[in-house]
Amino acid sequence: MIKIAIDGPGGAGKSTVARAVAAKMGIVYVDTGALYRTIGYYVKQQNIDPADREAVAACLGGINIQISYVEGKQHVFLNGEDMGDKIRTPEMSMYASAVSAIPAVRAFLLDTQRDIAARNSVIMDGRDIGTVILPDADVKIFLTASEECRARRRYDELVAKGQKVAFEDVLNEMNQRDKQDSIREVAPTAAADDAVLLDNTDMTFEQTVDAVIALAEKAQNK
Ligand code: DC
Repeated sequence: MIKIAIDGPGGAGKSTVARAVAAKMGIVYVDTGALYRTIGYYVKQQNIDPADREAVAACLGGINIQISYVEGKQHVFLNGEDMGDKIRTPEMSMYASAVSAIPAVRAFLLDTQRDIAARNSVIMDGRDIGTVILPDADVKIFLTASEECRARRRYDELVAKGQKVAFEDVLNEMNQRDKQDSIREVAPTAAADDAVLLDNTDMTFEQTVDAVIALAEKAQNK
Protein backbone atom coordinates (compact mmCIF):
# COMPACT_ATOMS: atom_id res chain seq x y z
CA MET A 1 0.00 0.00 0.00
CA ILE A 2 1.16 3.48 -0.82
CA LYS A 3 -0.35 6.86 -0.04
CA ILE A 4 0.63 9.86 -2.11
CA ALA A 5 -0.64 13.31 -1.18
CA ILE A 6 -0.63 16.14 -3.71
CA ASP A 7 -1.61 19.60 -2.55
CA GLY A 8 -1.30 22.99 -4.16
CA PRO A 9 -3.16 25.94 -5.65
CA GLY A 10 -5.55 25.77 -8.59
CA GLY A 11 -4.25 25.15 -12.08
CA ALA A 12 -0.97 23.54 -11.01
CA GLY A 13 -2.12 20.37 -12.75
CA LYS A 14 -2.73 18.33 -9.61
CA SER A 15 -5.69 16.41 -10.97
CA THR A 16 -4.36 15.62 -14.46
CA VAL A 17 -0.97 14.64 -13.06
CA ALA A 18 -2.49 12.56 -10.25
CA ARG A 19 -4.82 10.78 -12.67
CA ALA A 20 -1.90 9.85 -14.94
CA VAL A 21 0.26 8.70 -12.03
CA ALA A 22 -2.63 6.57 -10.71
CA ALA A 23 -3.10 4.90 -14.10
CA LYS A 24 0.63 4.18 -14.46
CA MET A 25 1.01 2.85 -10.93
CA GLY A 26 -2.31 0.98 -10.85
CA ILE A 27 -3.54 2.84 -7.79
CA VAL A 28 -6.70 4.86 -7.04
CA TYR A 29 -6.87 8.57 -7.81
CA VAL A 30 -8.97 10.46 -5.28
CA ASP A 31 -10.11 13.93 -6.32
CA THR A 32 -11.10 15.53 -3.01
CA GLY A 33 -12.08 18.85 -4.61
CA ALA A 34 -15.03 17.01 -6.17
CA LEU A 35 -16.40 16.37 -2.67
CA TYR A 36 -16.38 20.07 -1.76
CA ARG A 37 -17.87 20.85 -5.17
CA THR A 38 -20.66 18.37 -4.49
CA ILE A 39 -21.50 20.05 -1.20
CA GLY A 40 -21.41 23.41 -3.00
CA TYR A 41 -23.84 22.02 -5.57
CA TYR A 42 -26.26 20.89 -2.87
CA VAL A 43 -26.03 24.23 -1.06
CA LYS A 44 -26.88 26.06 -4.29
CA GLN A 45 -29.73 23.65 -5.00
CA GLN A 46 -31.16 24.43 -1.55
CA ASN A 47 -30.84 28.19 -2.17
CA ILE A 48 -28.50 28.53 0.78
CA ASP A 49 -25.90 31.31 0.90
CA PRO A 50 -22.55 29.43 0.89
CA ALA A 51 -21.12 32.04 3.25
CA ASP A 52 -23.84 31.35 5.83
CA ARG A 53 -21.94 28.93 8.07
CA GLU A 54 -24.87 27.94 10.27
CA ALA A 55 -27.21 27.30 7.36
CA VAL A 56 -24.59 25.27 5.49
CA ALA A 57 -23.75 23.23 8.59
CA ALA A 58 -27.44 22.61 9.23
CA CYS A 59 -28.07 21.28 5.72
CA LEU A 60 -25.30 18.63 5.86
CA GLY A 61 -27.73 16.11 7.41
CA GLY A 62 -29.57 16.00 4.08
CA ILE A 63 -26.46 14.97 2.18
CA ASN A 64 -25.41 11.43 1.37
CA ILE A 65 -22.20 11.20 -0.61
CA GLN A 66 -21.07 7.99 -2.29
CA ILE A 67 -17.93 7.57 -4.34
CA SER A 68 -17.35 4.84 -6.87
CA TYR A 69 -14.65 4.11 -9.42
CA VAL A 70 -15.48 2.93 -12.91
CA GLU A 71 -12.45 2.13 -15.07
CA GLY A 72 -10.33 4.37 -12.89
CA LYS A 73 -12.70 7.32 -13.16
CA GLN A 74 -14.12 8.73 -9.95
CA HIS A 75 -17.88 9.20 -9.76
CA VAL A 76 -19.39 11.18 -6.92
CA PHE A 77 -23.05 10.60 -6.12
CA LEU A 78 -25.10 13.15 -4.22
CA ASN A 79 -28.17 11.43 -2.78
CA GLY A 80 -27.97 8.93 -5.62
CA GLU A 81 -27.36 11.46 -8.41
CA ASP A 82 -24.09 11.20 -10.36
CA MET A 83 -22.55 14.68 -10.27
CA GLY A 84 -20.60 14.28 -13.53
CA ASP A 85 -19.61 17.62 -15.05
CA LYS A 86 -22.30 19.57 -13.23
CA ILE A 87 -19.76 20.41 -10.52
CA ARG A 88 -17.08 21.51 -13.00
CA THR A 89 -18.25 25.07 -13.67
CA PRO A 90 -16.56 28.27 -12.46
CA GLU A 91 -19.67 28.94 -10.34
CA MET A 92 -19.30 25.59 -8.59
CA SER A 93 -15.60 26.35 -8.02
CA MET A 94 -16.59 29.42 -6.04
CA TYR A 95 -19.31 27.56 -4.13
CA ALA A 96 -16.81 24.79 -3.31
CA SER A 97 -14.24 27.29 -2.09
CA ALA A 98 -16.81 29.06 0.11
CA VAL A 99 -18.20 25.92 1.76
CA SER A 100 -14.72 24.42 2.17
CA ALA A 101 -13.86 27.20 4.65
CA ILE A 102 -16.58 25.95 7.02
CA PRO A 103 -15.24 23.61 9.76
CA ALA A 104 -18.44 21.51 9.83
CA VAL A 105 -18.03 20.79 6.10
CA ARG A 106 -14.41 19.69 6.51
CA ALA A 107 -15.36 17.48 9.46
CA PHE A 108 -18.21 15.99 7.42
CA LEU A 109 -15.81 14.93 4.63
CA LEU A 110 -12.90 13.78 6.77
CA ASP A 111 -13.86 10.12 7.26
CA THR A 112 -14.92 9.67 3.63
CA GLN A 113 -11.43 10.68 2.52
CA ARG A 114 -9.56 8.69 5.17
CA ASP A 115 -11.66 5.56 4.57
CA ILE A 116 -10.73 5.43 0.90
CA ALA A 117 -7.05 5.78 1.77
CA ALA A 118 -7.32 3.09 4.44
CA ARG A 119 -8.70 0.57 1.95
CA ASN A 120 -6.63 1.37 -1.19
CA SER A 121 -3.29 2.53 -2.42
CA VAL A 122 -4.08 6.10 -3.39
CA ILE A 123 -2.86 9.31 -4.88
CA MET A 124 -5.10 11.97 -3.37
CA ASP A 125 -5.15 15.60 -4.43
CA GLY A 126 -6.49 18.62 -2.59
CA ARG A 127 -5.37 21.45 -0.33
CA ASP A 128 -4.87 19.79 3.06
CA ILE A 129 -4.09 16.16 2.21
CA GLY A 130 -0.49 16.16 3.47
CA THR A 131 -1.26 18.40 6.43
CA VAL A 132 -4.62 17.12 7.74
CA ILE A 133 -6.17 14.19 5.88
CA LEU A 134 -3.15 11.91 5.43
CA PRO A 135 -0.42 13.26 7.71
CA ASP A 136 1.32 9.85 7.44
CA ALA A 137 1.34 9.77 3.62
CA ASP A 138 4.41 8.03 2.16
CA VAL A 139 4.95 10.86 -0.31
CA LYS A 140 3.81 14.46 0.06
CA ILE A 141 4.08 16.85 -2.83
CA PHE A 142 3.18 20.51 -3.01
CA LEU A 143 2.67 21.15 -6.69
CA THR A 144 2.72 24.68 -7.96
CA ALA A 145 3.54 26.87 -10.98
CA SER A 146 3.59 30.57 -11.80
CA GLU A 147 0.28 32.42 -11.60
CA GLU A 148 0.23 33.13 -15.35
CA CYS A 149 0.98 29.53 -16.20
CA ARG A 150 -1.70 28.14 -13.87
CA ALA A 151 -4.35 30.52 -15.18
CA ARG A 152 -3.43 29.60 -18.76
CA ARG A 153 -3.84 25.90 -18.02
CA ARG A 154 -7.18 26.44 -16.30
CA TYR A 155 -8.33 28.58 -19.24
CA ASP A 156 -7.28 25.95 -21.82
CA GLU A 157 -9.06 23.26 -19.80
CA LEU A 158 -12.34 25.20 -19.70
CA VAL A 159 -12.16 26.11 -23.40
CA ALA A 160 -11.48 22.47 -24.28
CA LYS A 161 -14.68 21.59 -22.41
CA GLY A 162 -16.56 24.05 -24.61
CA GLN A 163 -17.05 26.71 -21.94
CA LYS A 164 -16.95 30.36 -23.06
CA VAL A 165 -14.63 32.21 -20.71
CA ALA A 166 -12.26 35.19 -20.84
CA PHE A 167 -8.64 34.69 -19.76
CA GLU A 168 -8.75 37.72 -17.44
CA ASP A 169 -11.82 36.33 -15.67
CA VAL A 170 -10.16 32.94 -15.23
CA LEU A 171 -7.04 34.60 -13.80
CA ASN A 172 -9.03 36.78 -11.40
CA GLU A 173 -11.29 33.96 -10.29
CA MET A 174 -8.30 31.67 -9.73
CA ASN A 175 -6.46 34.27 -7.66
CA GLN A 176 -9.54 35.07 -5.60
CA ARG A 177 -10.15 31.40 -4.89
CA ASP A 178 -6.50 30.63 -4.08
CA LYS A 179 -6.41 33.57 -1.69
CA GLN A 180 -9.65 32.48 -0.06
CA ASP A 181 -8.38 28.88 0.25
CA SER A 182 -5.02 29.86 1.72
CA ILE A 183 -6.10 32.44 4.29
CA ARG A 184 -8.99 30.50 5.81
CA GLU A 185 -8.65 29.42 9.42
CA VAL A 186 -9.27 25.70 8.98
CA ALA A 187 -6.96 23.56 6.88
CA PRO A 188 -5.74 26.30 4.53
CA THR A 189 -3.84 25.38 1.36
CA ALA A 190 -0.37 24.67 2.69
CA ALA A 191 2.67 22.53 2.11
CA ALA A 192 3.31 20.05 4.91
CA ASP A 193 6.71 20.49 6.58
CA ASP A 194 7.84 17.23 5.01
CA ALA A 195 6.41 17.90 1.54
CA VAL A 196 8.54 18.11 -1.59
CA LEU A 197 7.97 21.40 -3.38
CA LEU A 198 7.50 20.83 -7.10
CA ASP A 199 7.24 23.91 -9.33
CA ASN A 200 6.29 22.73 -12.80
CA THR A 201 6.16 26.10 -14.59
CA ASP A 202 8.93 24.99 -16.92
CA MET A 203 8.16 21.31 -16.92
CA THR A 204 6.05 19.36 -19.38
CA PHE A 205 3.14 17.28 -18.22
CA GLU A 206 5.17 14.07 -18.76
CA GLN A 207 8.11 15.45 -16.79
CA THR A 208 5.81 16.26 -13.89
CA VAL A 209 4.26 12.78 -13.97
CA ASP A 210 7.74 11.20 -14.07
CA ALA A 211 8.92 13.37 -11.16
CA VAL A 212 5.97 12.24 -9.00
CA ILE A 213 6.52 8.58 -9.90
CA ALA A 214 10.23 8.89 -9.11
CA LEU A 215 9.37 10.27 -5.65
CA ALA A 216 6.87 7.43 -5.11
CA GLU A 217 9.42 4.80 -6.14
CA LYS A 218 12.01 6.31 -3.85
CA ALA A 219 9.56 6.16 -0.94
CA GLN A 220 8.63 2.56 -1.74
CA ASN A 221 12.26 1.45 -1.83
CA LYS A 222 13.05 2.96 1.54
O1 DC B 1 -9.40 21.14 -6.47
P1 DC B 1 -10.71 21.85 -6.81
O2 DC B 1 -10.54 23.08 -7.65
O3 DC B 1 -11.72 20.91 -7.42
O4 DC B 1 -11.31 22.31 -5.39
C1 DC B 1 -12.47 23.07 -5.26
C2 DC B 1 -12.42 23.85 -3.95
O5 DC B 1 -12.54 22.93 -2.86
C3 DC B 1 -11.15 24.63 -3.70
O6 DC B 1 -11.30 25.98 -4.03
C4 DC B 1 -10.87 24.48 -2.23
C5 DC B 1 -11.67 23.30 -1.79
N1 DC B 1 -10.84 22.14 -1.41
C6 DC B 1 -10.39 22.11 -0.12
O7 DC B 1 -10.61 23.03 0.64
N2 DC B 1 -9.67 21.03 0.30
C7 DC B 1 -9.39 20.01 -0.53
N3 DC B 1 -8.71 18.96 -0.07
C8 DC B 1 -9.82 20.05 -1.88
C9 DC B 1 -10.53 21.15 -2.30
